[in-house]
Amino acid sequence: MTTDSGAKTVVVTGVTSGIGKAVAERLIGKGHRVVGLARSKDKLDALASEHADKLIPLVCDVRDAARVKEVVQELLAKVGTVDALVNNAGLLKFSATHDLADADLLAQVETILLGTIYMTRALLPTFIAQQRGLVVNLGSVSGQKASPKMAAYGAAKAGVENFTKSIALEYADKNIRAITICPGTIETGLMDKMMFAMIGKKVPMKRIGQPKEVAGLVEFLLSDDAAYMTGSSIVVDGGVGL
Ligand SMILES: NC(=O)c1ccc[n+]([C@@H]2O[C@H](COP(=O)([O-])OP(=O)(O)OC[C@H]3O[C@@H](n4cnc5c(N)ncnc54)[C@H](OP(=O)(O)O)[C@@H]3O)[C@@H](O)[C@H]2O)c1
Repeated sequence: MTTDSGAKTVVVTGVTSGIGKAVAERLIGKGHRVVGLARSKDKLDALASEHADKLIPLVCDVRDAARVKEVVQELLAKVGTVDALVNNAGLLKFSATHDLADADLLAQVETILLGTIYMTRALLPTFIAQQRGLVVNLGSVSGQKASPKMAAYGAAKAGVENFTKSIALEYADKNIRAITICPGTIETGLMDKMMFAMIGKKVPMKRIGQPKEVAGLVEFLLSDDAAYMTGSSIVVDGGVGL
């Protein structure tokens, strides 16, 4: 619940690594409270132990629609209400499309696109009841332009961007905002470390990004300064999409 001090409660999926972890740490550092979701209980417990009661850990595989419904009830019972949802859980499987295994196709589409929809659907009634809410979805520059061996990932991310715009339009009159953040390459566990130097050379800014450079944007979107922004896709890519 938003407090008199302006502290907010934010649900972050994929909180145990990379961008999600940086978002949680940034928001907690600014006095907000985070409900963090991921599949690994061990990693969640380790993160929660660093942040005492500021990070509430809940195990949830966002591909599981029934578990998503259940976890939203659990977290509402714990925290009362929620100000914002950051749909960040994701994974990337590089593969030529004709070789793409069923499991890798499903994992990407279910986690990225369906997981985002399940989580948003489950929290919308709360946002509607309070006539206020923010959904921040992690898209990708790969959802905006074609990338070889990333066709399913890119299609799922393009779907996330369209879903975000639809939510923004459908709920604008209820003061519920939705924004897509589209990062370029960010140094996380998403891909092999060997690729970072190679990709960095091709970025106009000659480096890949850091998770904190996405986390700062989430903090801004949560602030009153962003209150008139909705439906936008914000690119954070060192100029790679230019
Ligand atoms: N890094 C980049 O270059 C980049 C670029 C553009 C967009 N993005 C997007 O940014 C988001 C975060 O990526 P990242 O780079 O920070 O990746 P990461 O370091 O690999 O972290 C992924 C997080 O998602 C969680 N996760 C994966 N599958 C899940 C599921 N089914 N249910 C719940 N949690 C799940 C993981 O925890 P568990 O394994 O414990 O579940 C982990 O906490 C993703 O949506 C990604 O597509 C990243």
